[in-house]
Amino acid sequence: MLPSLDSFCDRLSASALSQAIQSTEWVIPTVQTVHILAVAAVMSSILMFDLRLIGVRSRRESVVAVAARFIPVVWYGLPILLVTGAILIIAEPARALQNPVFILKMTLILLAAGLTLVSQIPLRRDRGFWEASISRRRLARLVGCLSLPIWVAIVFAGRWIAYMRSH
Ligand code: HEM
Repeated sequence: MLPSLDSFCDRLSASALSQAIQSTEWVIPTVQTVHILAVAAVMSSILMFDLRLIGVRSRRESVVAVAARFIPVVWYGLPILLVTGAILIIAEPARALQNPVFILKMTLILLAAGLTLVSQIPLRRDRGFWEASISRRRLARLVGCLSLPIWVAIVFAGRWIAYMRSH
């Protein structure tokens, strides 16, 4: 790995904050628990919304109504995941920062969050945007069909980090 990244991880791991986290037994399991609870909240909300986009669930409700119910959970959940993830990184920097699967996970998060944002922006101007025509409904289905596997891949990558050790 890059020597500069190596020494950054060493320095971060030797920092007072990292040492404090490492030496307090309950911190990591607690932070991991919050991370997993946030994953559950984000994933179940995304599942509900994407299934509506695809057109297999809550079809009697408009896309905008389903979005209003579930998408705020995603936007509140992501910062919680970011903070708890950062604490896990500070505790053991090389485990994530020198791991290609972690880089893959971050890339997928940007992609998934971007796709979710793309599905929300048109709803601000036109509440019926995704239901306006057959081609829009097809596009909505495509967005949902792309989004779901990316979110699932993020969960897979999150677990995979533990088994792909690069140092
Ligand atoms: C937003 C920034 C995020 C950061 C910085 C982050 C960081 C991390 C870190 C460092 C770990 C520990 C990996 C290990 O050492 O084994 C982890 C675990 C995990 N993450 Fe994230 N994560 C983020 C977002 C997400 C998101 C959006 C999801 C899925 C929706 C997710 C799902 C998971 C899962 C399933 C695990 C494994 C938990 C376990 O088995 O203990 N993460 N994450």
